[in-house]
Amino acid sequence: MAASGSLQASHQVQRAEFGRLVNAGEFTPAFSHSDANQRFVAACIDEVLPRFAGRDRISVIDCGCGTGAWMEFLADRIGDGTGIAVDLFGFDLTPEMVAVAHQRWQGRERQPHLAEGNILDEHSYAQFRPTGGGFDIVFAYDVVQQLPRRQQWTAVETLLRHVAPGGVMMVFDHDCWSRYGIKMALKKAVTWYLRIPLVPRYYCNARYPPLNVFVAKMKRQSVGAQRQAANSTPKCAFIVDAPLGNG
Ligand SMILES: C[S@@+](CC[C@H](N)C(=O)[O-])C[C@H]1O[C@@H](n2cnc3c(N)ncnc32)[C@H](O)[C@@H]1O
Repeated sequence: MAASGSLQASHQVQRAEFGRLVNAGEFTPAFSHSDANQRFVAACIDEVLPRFAGRDRISVIDCGCGTGAWMEFLADRIGDGTGIAVDLFGFDLTPEMVAVAHQRWQGRERQPHLAEGNILDEHSYAQFRPTGGGFDIVFAYDVVQQLPRRQQWTAVETLLRHVAPGGVMMVFDHDCWSRYGIKMALKKAVTWYLRIPLVPRYYCNARYPPLNVFVAKMKRQSVGAQRQAANSTPKCAFIVDAPLGNG
């Protein structure tokens, strides 16, 4: 992991802000996502699981894992739902978040592999030495949005390089061109420029990605990709099959 001195300014902002939020008690080991978002992620996971039928274990990496809430959710959902054992990996840019994720598993028999890491940095994936040429599920939730727009596509390409053959990348984020994305862009602009707090100020450090543009770019490269939206939450999923070149 690069020392903070060599991190880009935008990443230093992310790290400082999420560290502050952990220290302020906003993110704790008990943190979990809303029922609606859990239902949406569960539905998307259930759709991709048949590709692993017949396997007795798969590897899942949560990139930008935060408190580890989704790691716990995914392990339960996949393990309980299918009986497939899950090798769990996760990294996050913010050391305080990684510490919270560690606390989540304190005293439990099974421990995930957790470390600091940057979604753009090859070492963040390689440090876990995955077998089989990558991870079966490469998962990132509300993390691509934390990057400057010019780095978001690079982040997606980096995530995708670490999907094992036959595996899948699952990016959950808001779409900048959805109704919610446009409404939030306006609220963030008012919060940031007019200093009228319509949203928590740290929301202004997130720029929702253009998911339909990403789907189109993948398809131009003949990579299977789709954007999924839910009825009960404005969150979207960007789901991409491992490209044929992987492995
Ligand atoms: C909104 S939180 C989401 C955390 C977690 N994915 C979840 O949904 O519970 C965003 C997280 O992304 C992390 N993050 C920001 N930029 C990152 C980067 N370049 N690489 C890895 N993690 C990053 C932050 O430290 C923070 O934990």
